[in-house]
Amino acid sequence: MKLEAGQVAVVTGAANGIGRAVAQALCDREIRVVLADIDGDAVAAAADELGPDTLAAPTDVADPHQVQRLADTTLERFGRVDLVFNNAGMGVGGPIWLVEPEDWHRLWSVNVQGVVNGMRAFVPHLIAAGRGHVVNTSSLAGVTAGPFNAPYSASKHAVVALTEALRGELDVFAPEIGATVVCPGPVDTRLLRGATEGIGTLLGAPAEARQGWLGTLTPDQWERLAPGLSLVAQMADEAMPTARAAEIILSAVEADRLYVTTHPSWTTAVSDRVARIVADMEASV
Ligand SMILES: NC(=O)c1ccc[n+]([C@@H]2O[C@H](COP(=O)([O-])OP(=O)(O)OC[C@H]3O[C@@H](n4cnc5c(N)ncnc54)[C@H](O)[C@@H]3O)[C@@H](O)[C@H]2O)c1
Repeated sequence: MKLEAGQVAVVTGAANGIGRAVAQALCDREIRVVLADIDGDAVAAAADELGPDTLAAPTDVADPHQVQRLADTTLERFGRVDLVFNNAGMGVGGPIWLVEPEDWHRLWSVNVQGVVNGMRAFVPHLIAAGRGHVVNTSSLAGVTAGPFNAPYSASKHAVVALTEALRGELDVFAPEIGATVVCPGPVDTRLLRGATEGIGTLLGAPAEARQGWLGTLTPDQWERLAPGLSLVAQMADEAMPTARAAEIILSAVEADRLYVTTHPSWTTAVSDRVARIVADMEASV
């Protein structure tokens, strides 16, 4: 979809990180932006900084009523909506059987239902207008899978599936409307730093300082875990600035690309995974 001055965009998770940078990049193109975030003070400050053609909308994307109100507020204020960025997300990790049910539930409500709520609230308006583009944020963890990241990775796989399904449904209902799933690699945000710095501290700390399930590991188990943790901690070294990630995302919208990533060189992990799936399936009978 061609981005043009005067269009209206909604960005969730817009108070910080990638969402904040996408909002900035849209404002730079004179696109009016509704910034939605669960952190009301931070989103008000972000909207103030970005100027008068913005609106701060405190919203918990996990709540379908709040997201519906976000759509109503957008249309009341600006009279149209062209672009919807379902970007808000959070992280939860750990061994599958040790993550508490309430943590599974909250993560799923935000990362998966949050995207569903965004599509339920806004897609009907895009179809009625006969124009628009939906951008859902997944992760490279949404097209690969690894240990100790199952809640996050599984939720991001769901976002890929949701966006692929949306593309097929729009092909029937409204082919002119675009859909993109964003699969970022490491981008320099609070979310990434929280994960990598926490792991860096853990790797440098004595065994006695390890807490929770990590404190229960035998020396052998720790030896098997630590190399993988080091790789995650090193992701910080390859973190991309948020402004660059935002430009890559907006280019994908303009090119009407279904998939986009910030780190194309990391997609060998995707091809390796797909090759393994196909090889095992072809060998099945
Ligand atoms: N930073 C990375 O390296 C990276 C990599 C892959 C995917 N992602 C994804 O990109 C998206 C943005 O992440 P980020 O790195 O900018 O994180 P961030 O923590 O910097 O920003 C996320 C924003 O979302 C908001 N938010 C959280 N829960 C919310 C909710 N329930 N309702 C509304 N807002 C909520 C937070 O308040 C915050 O402002 C997420 O979906 C994340 O999973 C990030």
